[in-house]
Amino acid sequence: MDGVTDHPYRNAWAEVFGKDPRPHAGRLMHQAVSPFVSLVRGERIKRSHIADLLPQNNLMDVEPQVLGNDADFFLVMAKTLADLGYRSVNWNLGCPKPQIAAKQRGSGLLPHPDRIDAFLNRVVPASPLPLSVKIRLGYRSPDEVFKVIEVLNRYPLVYVAVHPRIGTQLYGGEADWDRFGEVLRLLYAPCTYNGDINSMQKAQAFVSRFGNGEHKVNSVMIGRGVIADPFLPGRLAGLSYSPADMQTLFARFVQTLWRNYLACGLRPLSALHRQKLYWSQFRGAFLPPHAFSHVKTLQDPDAYEQFLQNF
Ligand SMILES: Cc1cc2nc3c(=O)[nH]c(=O)nc-3n(C[C@H](O)[C@H](O)[C@H](O)COP(=O)(O)O)c2cc1C
Repeated sequence: MDGVTDHPYRNAWAEVFGKDPRPHAGRLMHQAVSPFVSLVRGERIKRSHIADLLPQNNLMDVEPQVLGNDADFFLVMAKTLADLGYRSVNWNLGCPKPQIAAKQRGSGLLPHPDRIDAFLNRVVPASPLPLSVKIRLGYRSPDEVFKVIEVLNRYPLVYVAVHPRIGTQLYGGEADWDRFGEVLRLLYAPCTYNGDINSMQKAQAFVSRFGNGEHKVNSVMIGRGVIADPFLPGRLAGLSYSPADMQTLFARFVQTLWRNYLACGLRPLSALHRQKLYWSQFRGAFLPPHAFSHVKTLQDPDAYEQFLQNF
């Protein structure tokens, strides 16, 4: 998520919550998708543009995500990412921001299946990395998705992640599970579901509807649900956390987040603003009463440091 799940966040989550504590168990999240990186003109990509993706900055397995519509610049990016050791690259056809969509990028490309086809026709055979794609149901209408699927089905994609809203909805309304079911039946590539999985109940309802049968969902991508409740992936994997565990892990998490944002070179005041963003999103039993109303009043990084020490 752009401006949210960059490497200091991902690393803090991985360090505190990422490992399954049960014997012989592995990770609690298979992979993170990076916030989108925009394409740049030319033959070279500055390392500062892809700092978030440099392997030395990352503890988790990450799939880089790219936003743009120029096949040649995409290929330069894919080559750069392959040289860094990545194994696939995700193409963003979901971003709903009006200023991005207006330039036929992100979900703004969904009403133009011919452009998507021309892009994939050039990129897929030439890319050193296989592609995955993230889509919405359309930009203006959820019917746009059908022509898009016809195009996507012509290419060997690693997976297609589907967020069943349209671009002009931004994040309003409900994810459309009925239309998602139709998409799932039609798609050839493995399908990842994305949208509004923010509780055990929601996940259970989703799995009971889409987790079995001929057309079942391969994996689920969770965005805001993990930001609000960093314990959610563990609980979805069957872990339970005692109140004491929750207190200890949450304190470690916010301390690690703070340390990571300071260490990545953000000015302390900017790092503090970023912490306030997370605190404004946290929801759940792990959250001490009135903590956010206190944090949001803090203007001084030292005062936040003090708050964390007494936490
Ligand atoms: C602040 C913000 C930034 C986002 N940035 C990205 C992004 O860079 N790439 C992307 O594919 N989706 C991005 N998204 C969309 C999410 O990945 C996801 O599709 C959407 O939030 C719905 O899933 P959720 O209900 O699990 O959050 C962003 C969403 C938000 C709210």
